[in-house]
This record gives sequence, structure tokens and C-alpha cells, in this order.
Amino acid sequence: MDFVGSHILSVDQFARGDIDRLFAVADALAPFARRERITRVLQGAILSNMFFEPSTRTRVSFGCAFNLLGGDVRETTEVKSSALAKGESLHDTARVLSGYSDVIVMRHPQEGSVAEFATASRVPVINGGDGANEHPSQALLDLYTVRQEIRARGRTMDGLRIAVVGDLKFGRAVHSLLKLLALFEGISVNLVSPPGLEAPSDVVSVLSNAGHEAGVYHDLGDGIHHVDILYVTRTQEERFASPEEADRYRGLFRVNEAIYTEHCEPNTVIMHPLPRDSRAQAQELDEDLNANPNLAIFRQTDNGVVVRMALFAMILDVVDQVHDHARPVTWYTARRTPSGLGTRS
Ligand code: NCD
Repeated sequence: MDFVGSHILSVDQFARGDIDRLFAVADALAPFARRERITRVLQGAILSNMFFEPSTRTRVSFGCAFNLLGGDVRETTEVKSSALAKGESLHDTARVLSGYSDVIVMRHPQEGSVAEFATASRVPVINGGDGANEHPSQALLDLYTVRQEIRARGRTMDGLRIAVVGDLKFGRAVHSLLKLLALFEGISVNLVSPPGLEAPSDVVSVLSNAGHEAGVYHDLGDGIHHVDILYVTRTQEERFASPEEADRYRGLFRVNEAIYTEHCEPNTVIMHPLPRDSRAQAQELDEDLNANPNLAIFRQTDNGVVVRMALFAMILDVVDQVHDHARPVTWYTARRTPSGLGTRS
């Protein structure tokens, strides 16, 4: 695909070569994400960050990524504080906002809403999550993390064994990730969920049609045996018809140090798109794993910045100009080791 000027609405847009190009740009931008150098390549550009559902890391990391490239960010974070609450259509909102900005990131509770919005936008739109459908940028940062972790363990993406655990029905991050994994060779996926929260058949078909193994498990221990990656997710309570219905599933699968040690390999990577639900009745990923060096959840969140920087740089066609606008950082900065290397926290 041609990234320049494109909307990013679904991972269906990507071929494997597109992923390789995006990740190469992300690798090149890592010194800027780590505050070793600054660049002003997007000085004067404006991002409209439109979040009509709760978000911490997606919203803030998109904003930071744009700022780190030198651009400015305008935020709208609630339907009730936007004209959508007065009955304005997505079409009209898109026409208006695209007159104010160079690129738009949008999250919305309705599936397909971001694509609808994009049809009326005059600038590129990135899907920050549309209902239970897709979350492409999360899947890209997850895949970037998987690649980094797997390489650090001397393995390649092809032949990867991964277990995805939890609410596979409503988890949009999982839907996008599974479809992206299908672009590689010989992937084996264990789909581990309580009965009733299985992954949608169209998502599973993408894997099986590409010749990958996709096994369904309803038992946590069976499902997480012999995997390279253990990807845990939260019960998406906001997508259920009622809180009582979500309560039936909450806390059914809890990954903790004891379960991990019993069923996983000593270097199985532990991932989660976050937020993890740390309330007593949930705890799908226990804090007793916090000191485990294979816990990659905060390496994932760090990677969210650099992968989103790469998306902006490619969509706005400034990849080749980044270094012309760069200089060293002069302020004190707590030096970070590159994600995935050195300190594992
Ligand atoms: C995910 C989402 O919003 O889909 N969060 C995120 O963006 N990192 C996963 C979730 O909310 O459970």
C-alpha cells in the first residue's frame, strides 16, 4: 500500500512488505522516541485527536508521537462536549475537523464509524478503535513488540506460537492482531476463551485460510502450553448488554506467576494491550508477575509511541526529512535503555 495520504482503518490494508517498511521507519525513529534527539519535521502540522470512548495510552501516545515529530495536537475527548451531542452527523463533523487539521485519529464506540467518518474527511484518518471491530495501531505496536521480543530470544516471526486469552469476542485489539499475524508463515494460535467469548469466525478464517493453525481452548492451562507469546486481554465489559452479563465472565481466567510457571516455558513473553483490570474480581493478569522479566506490557506501551510516530511520518510523507530537522536533546532526560533490551521493566 501507499501510506502517503492514506486512511488507516483496518489491518486488512497491509501486506507483509508494508509492515516491514513501517517497522524499519519505527526503528529509525527510536532515538527520537527515547529523547536522545529531537526533530521538528512536523512543525506547523495539527493532529485532531478525537476520542469518544475512554482511553489513556492510545490517546496520549498518539499525541506524544505527533509532538515528538514537532506537530501540535488538538483533543476532543467526549461526545457530550462535541457537536455530535447536538445531533451533528459524523459526515459534517469530519468535514469541519478536516478543515482544521492535517490528520485525525478517532476512537468511537460504534463499529464502522471511523470508516464512515473517513469518507467525509479531506485529511487522513487513523482508526483508534471502532467498537468491537478493529484497533489497527494497537495491533501494529503489538506486532512490533512480538518481533522485538522474539528476536531477542533468537527466534523469527515465522513459526511463532501464540496464545491469546480472554474476551476474544469483543476484543478489537485481538481481532486486528490475529489478522496481522496471518501475514507471516506457519503461525500457530491458541484461541483461549470462556465458552461464549470465542473469536469471531471471520477473524479465525483469515488465519485458517492462510494455512495457519488456530485451535480453540476453553481451559486456560491447556491453552497456554508451549507458546512463545502469551497475550492476555480484559473482559470488554462496556460491550456487553448489561454489567451482570459481563460479571459472568470476569475473573474466569487469571494468569498469575503460579499458572505461568506451571504451564509456560521459562522465556514465554507475557503481553496485554492494557488496561489490565486490577479489581479483585477480575485480575486477568496478576501483579505478582510484575517482576518477571518476560512481562513485556510496558515495553508494548513504550513501543506505541515509536510505531505511531512511524505511521504519522509515512502518512504525511516526511520520512526522508526527519533527520534534516533534528538536533540533540539539551535538557536533562532520564536515559532509557531501548525497549526490550537492558532493563526489563
Ligand atoms: C484496548 C482497547 O481500547 O481496545 N486498549 C488499548 O487501546 N490499549 C484494550 C482494552 O481496552 O481492553
